Amino acid sequence: MITVFGSTNLDQIGTVTRLPKPGETVAGGTFSMAPGGKGANQALAARRAGAQVLHVSAVGADAFADLALDLLQSGGVDLTRMRKAEAATGIAMIFVDAEGENVIAILPGANGTIGPDDAEHGLKDLSASDTLLVQQEVPQAATRRALEIARERGARSILNTAPYLPDTGALAPLADIVIANETEFSLLSGRPIAELDAAMADWVAETGRTIVVTLGPEGARAMGPGGAITVAAHRVEPVDTVGAGDTFCGYLAAALDAGLSLEDAMRRAAVAGSLACLKPGAQPAIPQSADVDAVLAG
Ligand code: RIB
Ligand code: NA
Repeated sequence: MITVFGSTNLDQIGTVTRLPKPGETVAGGTFSMAPGGKGANQALAARRAGAQVLHVSAVGADAFADLALDLLQSGGVDLTRMRKAEAATGIAMIFVDAEGENVIAILPGANGTIGPDDAEHGLKDLSASDTLLVQQEVPQAATRRALEIARERGARSILNTAPYLPDTGALAPLADIVIANETEFSLLSGRPIAELDAAMADWVAETGRTIVVTLGPEGARAMGPGGAITVAAHRVEPVDTVGAGDTFCGYLAAALDAGLSLEDAMRRAAVAGSLACLKPGAQPAIPQSADVDAVLAG
């Protein structure tokens, strides 16, 4: 089973021809809302990949909460550890332009109230055969406690470093597997992207953990005590990349939880992440397992 500990948002999406600059007004385009948040997106991705998933998070006591949980609910994600906070439901304001380029502002609301107690309560049934998946859209003290609990119980733990926070370097070695994009790994390692391979090898030697770096259209590269792995992405013409990283993380966790090798898990995750770029929004774009199978078989 997979436990995802992290954020839940309702995404407010403006599709515009061109992103407004500070102080500028751009008229035209369309508005939509869709469930999002890195925690929730990764929970749904793991579920669509075929795993049993518990999402531990918080939403507000407002009208946005039900909308934010809609696809998790209908998708069969366990929401019994979802707390109603005395705060607004987390909101992400997203603009996407005609090229698929985006800007995002996150208003954490209930996500900002998640603390170490939520980890204690939400993870009380976590066992050695489970996988914990965390990101960084909730306060770091809570994420830290969740990772510590996974370690105490002997569960597999995966940290996605998005969005990057100042203390990520101290947190990362608490996880068995760290998933970062190139920018995040450059910040984590303190090395330029051009030194990716050497920086990955040094980080593994230092921590003894496994690092997976997502490379967008180039796929993903991993390094760990067992050596290096590179997998290709599935080439697509991206419509909207929001949620692609989350899809990668959820699919990777689900595949590892199902007993696949890291290489096979990365191959599935990279294809799933590519497919998530083909539709607007985060959760509505997460592919089903059969869609990933079809690409891998093709
Ligand atoms: O990773 C994508 C997510 O980031 C969006 O769903 C949005 O909620 C932001 O948190
Ligand atoms: Na998308």
